Amino acid sequence: MTVELSAPPKGGTRHPWDWYVEEKWVTHRLLDMIALETDVTYLDPCCGQLHIPEALTERGFFAYGTDLFDRAGGHSLFMGEHDLLGDQRHMLEASNGLSIIFNPPFSFQNGRLVRGLAEKCIRRALSIATHKVCALLPLKWLASEGRYRLFTDETPIGVWILCERPSMPPGNIIEQLGDNAFDHGKIDYIWVVWDKRRAPMTDFQGRPFAPTFWIPPREKITVKAERKLAA
Ligand SMILES: C[S@@+](CC[C@H](N)C(=O)[O-])C[C@H]1O[C@@H](n2cnc3c(N)ncnc32)[C@H](O)[C@@H]1O
Repeated sequence: MTVELSAPPKGGTRHPWDWYVEEKWVTHRLLDMIALETDVTYLDPCCGQLHIPEALTERGFFAYGTDLFDRAGGHSLFMGEHDLLGDQRHMLEASNGLSIIFNPPFSFQNGRLVRGLAEKCIRRALSIATHKVCALLPLKWLASEGRYRLFTDETPIGVWILCERPSMPPGNIIEQLGDNAFDHGKIDYIWVVWDKRRAPMTDFQGRPFAPTFWIPPREKITVKAERKLAA
């Protein structure tokens, strides 16, 4: 079992395992944009407090979560503590029809900086999933020398830009932040979607590409209603 550090890494304020919680609307907006298969199981292998499996279940999909830590105390969609990057496979990961939807840790493992962490998680997810892999990532993540191959060898089927900025407070201080916990997101996010069964898309010169879509912000009235429901 992995021991969680209770304090953030020295000299920084990041959560030691990058537990940053997105609200459920972030997943609902993805589901508004793409037609997901209804005959596969959905797994969030970095599920935290299970907002992604909850959002999927609310739309009628079979969804579960695992995480290095049980962050949701006995939640019915939580399938157990599991290291996505470890050597062992989880039963669900051996499923014949499996899509992975997740908000991967970005840079920290046990308080230590791990370069290319989100990419490692995505490559692992791509090695496990049989259908789609959808990853929530900062917009800036798209441009990188190191990740070039992730976009050319494992061609994504599209990039969806969230025009409404999500806020992602550290999960361990959400209660403390109270009503303001999800105010004022400072970073732009995208969903990047890969489909294991699709051939890479190429342009007229054979170069791989992925189309870009904009996810419109929610109506202000919907935002107010959703906040009331979540409170
Ligand atoms: C960005 S947060 C996801 C938040 C989540 N969507 C929620 O609703 O709380 C990343 C999560 O990945 C988990 N994590 C970090 N390293 C992991 C690993 N090697 N294997 C599995 N989970 C890991 C963290 O514990 C954290 O809960």
